[in-house]
Amino acid sequence: MSMTTTSLQSALNSLPNGAPENVVRKCFAPQFLEALGFQTQEVYPEYSTGNGESVDEAARKTVGDDIFLYTKSNPYLLIEWKGRNINLSNNSAQYQNAVRQIKRYLLAPDCKTAQWGIIVNSCHIQLFRKHGKVVYPATQCIPLNNENIDETVASIRKKIETPTKALTVALYNNKGGVGKTTTTVNLAAILAFLGKKVLAIDFDPNQQDLTSALGIPLSDGIVYKALTERDTELQSAIHHYKFPLKRGELRFDIIPADRNFATAGDIIFDPFSRRNILHRKLEFARQEYDYILIDSPPNWRTFSKLAVFAADVVLIPTKHNNLFSLENAATAIKKFIPEIQAEKADGSPVALPVFFNGEKITQPQLATAQKEIHSILQTSKGEGFNLVPYFFPKYTPATKDLHILQVPSYAIIAGAAFSRTPAVYRDRSAHEYYKNLAKEYFLQ
Ligand SMILES: Nc1ncnc2c1ncn2[C@@H]1O[C@H](COP(=O)(O)OP(=O)(O)OP(=O)(O)O)[C@@H](O)[C@H]1O
Ligand SMILES: [Mg+2]
Repeated sequence: MSMTTTSLQSALNSLPNGAPENVVRKCFAPQFLEALGFQTQEVYPEYSTGNGESVDEAARKTVGDDIFLYTKSNPYLLIEWKGRNINLSNNSAQYQNAVRQIKRYLLAPDCKTAQWGIIVNSCHIQLFRKHGKVVYPATQCIPLNNENIDETVASIRKKIETPTKALTVALYNNKGGVGKTTTTVNLAAILAFLGKKVLAIDFDPNQQDLTSALGIPLSDGIVYKALTERDTELQSAIHHYKFPLKRGELRFDIIPADRNFATAGDIIFDPFSRRNILHRKLEFARQEYDYILIDSPPNWRTFSKLAVFAADVVLIPTKHNNLFSLENAATAIKKFIPEIQAEKADGSPVALPVFFNGEKITQPQLATAQKEIHSILQTSKGEGFNLVPYFFPKYTPATKDLHILQVPSYAIIAGAAFSRTPAVYRDRSAHEYYKNLAKEYFLQ
């Protein structure tokens, strides 16, 4: 153990218990920013977000002669400082406020280019990543002390200096037939149409619906081998799905289900130590694609766990008239996803708000669904879990907005599998439905 005290450590030690924000910023922020790799000219204080608010600090490295302090253009990192008198330990009310605050700043009009947000009060720190419209944790909420401060800040620095390109999304609901596969196919297709580079993965070992919906041959053992053998990579299993246009073509990539999945599936992959295998084998894809979408089976067994482990966020289709699909969504959010979070220990994955898929909804039915959801919310509250943002993301006490996104029931969506073409490429309405979904969740 080294006996020398680093400048971060001494800055931390100089702070009295309960130091208010201005003291924390004066005595700790300069050393902190330096350790993160930013020079004085690369940081701008009280940066206005364009929403009538300002964030404590915005930062960006100098590019040529574009110095952030002077041009104030294209912020990359936002930092929200708190005092030691604010409790930032995980799940305190003050912590949740700070999280809402940094999310709001990251999504504000003048912070479009910002990819990272930090909340910090010198006792706790958490890093968030933004990809398009999605803001999710990139670290856990970490308690800081003399022993871990240098390595914690160094690991945050490494993350922000070597960002990954992709957002990885697992499509999951324990309930069958709610639209996981349909959503994966059409979301992949619409994101590709909108110019994104997309990889879709058929990770449902028994049904292999995504592979057959696109008329792609099953993988001939390669995917299985890649998931069970160290030296086989997933790249070689990639199939290019192409849709011809008058000029050029649309393309997105698929990793099909494997012939060997159905028979060997859960037995081979089950050991706990392999929980990260899909995540690890997707390393290459995280640098190459804008979106990686993983279709998972309707259970909570090995393939779903590997898919959710590989994901940054989990998108959960539900049906308004199917109580199980709503209860399962709640269970995934309260129980399954946190189980994976605990193993993964980097703050991810988190659930996106649920949406209703594939049924016609009348007003009375919608009211019934909302009543069901309210009772699920009540139960969860009793268990100490606030599910409101996952079901009613726009709800505030002032607005009482109970909006849930809907992808309506539409025959052409159901029929598309027979034509081996995503519905969004064949039909204008289907195109609009999924464009709405992509915009509501993903695109800034
Ligand atoms: N918006 C929609 N409009 C009409 N039909 C839909 C819609 N979404 C899904 N479907 C149809 O509903 C059925 C179930 O959808 P899908 O296979 O996508 O569900 P899933 O959750 O993947 O099912 P499983 O749990 O079995 O994997 C399919 O026949 C599909 O074509
Ligand atoms: Mg499916």
